[in-house]
This record gives sequence, C-alpha cells and structure tokens, in this order.
Amino acid sequence: MKSADILKKYPDITVIDHPFVQHKLTSLRDKNTSTREFRMLVEELGTLIGYEATRDLETIDIEVETPLEKAMCPVLKGKKLCIVTIMRAGNGLAEGVLKLSPSARVGHIGMYRDPETKQPVDYYLKMPHSIDERTIIVVDPMLATGNSAAAAIEKMKKMGAKDIRFICLFAAPEGIEAFKEEHSDVPMYIGSIDRELDEHAYIRPGVGDAGDRIYGTR
Ligand code: URA
Repeated sequence: MKSADILKKYPDITVIDHPFVQHKLTSLRDKNTSTREFRMLVEELGTLIGYEATRDLETIDIEVETPLEKAMCPVLKGKKLCIVTIMRAGNGLAEGVLKLSPSARVGHIGMYRDPETKQPVDYYLKMPHSIDERTIIVVDPMLATGNSAAAAIEKMKKMGAKDIRFICLFAAPEGIEAFKEEHSDVPMYIGSIDRELDEHAYIRPGVGDAGDRIYGTR
C-alpha cells in the first residue's frame, strides 16, 4: 500500500514531513554516513519526532512568581513520561526523546528477530513502576515486519499500560499493517514510510541494519 493510502486508512499515523526531519533521514540513508554522525542523527531525530508525539500531553496551571508579578502558567500534568526502548537500536532514539524530558523513566525490552522465522524473541524486560499511570512512548528506529514492536506493546498492555504511542524513523507498509492489526489504538509517529520489505525483512530503500550503523558493529 502507498504512503498516502496508509495515512488515509489510519488517521492516527503521523509522518513527520518537516524539512529538517526529512533532511536528516536522507543523511541516515547515505551509506557513507559515519557511525558517529549516524548515532548523532538518530538522537536528533528522536528529539524532533518525540516533540510531535508529545504535542497533546496534558498540562495544569500553577502559580509562579515572575520578577514582575504572580502568574498562572502551565506545567506538565501527572506522572513522568516513560520511554520504552526496544533494544538495541531503540536506545539511540530513546536518548533523543530523553532530551525533551530528562526526568522521564526508561523501560527496556530486549528483543531480537530470529533470522529464520523472522519472529521476535525476547530476552530482557525491565520497566519502571506505575506504567498504568504514565504516558508510554515506545521507540524503535525501524518498523520492518512490525512483529517486535507489536509484541513489545502487547507486553506493555499486559502490564497495564493504557496510554501508549509508538515512534520510529522508517516503516515498511507491511509492518504498519501488521502493527495496526494488533494495536489499532496506538498512535504512530513515523519519519518515513518506505517502499517495501525485501525477502530478508529489510526495509527498502531504508538504511540497512540500524543497530549496526548506530554502534559500528558487523
Ligand atoms: N531492522 C533494521 O535495522 N533495518 C531494517 O531494514 C529492518 C529491520
């Protein structure tokens, strides 16, 4: 399915078409982009996309005293945000979202994709307390088959999470469909909806293996 049709079908999907975001995504795609630059760009994009994903957070007015007078001004309401990173590639993106909210709590889910079955296998889970009372932002740079993200969010829901959003840099149309089939209630904030998944479940044109490019492995 084409990007425009996906956006028509799922009104709670936001593609961040801001020129700065699109420019940085193009730099990520470039195979000559260094590890250092790649990591920096992922973090910057986490901040920019995180900004859009938190636009509707609730605020409450409190009294502050400026040097000139007392005023009622807004602050964030409720418990601290919880950023959930799907390791390991999600960690780079999580750092960027943390720039917006340095006191946010951070949950970690360790998952890898079985190269044969393409199904997610989980090996680690650590969450902050009270996730049922927090806004949860799940981050993973690449939504390929959608299986890992969908499984991670399933875990969050089983633990009581109610307000969940998902951020990624690149998504395959197939991955979005699979994700939305399981989690029609979870808004998605995406840098780019790419053309397709290839036979190895890589996003095309994509960036290759995001974890390897962030950490300079392989
Ligand atoms: N994970 C990646 O890092 N890249 C892809 O293209 C797909 C999944």
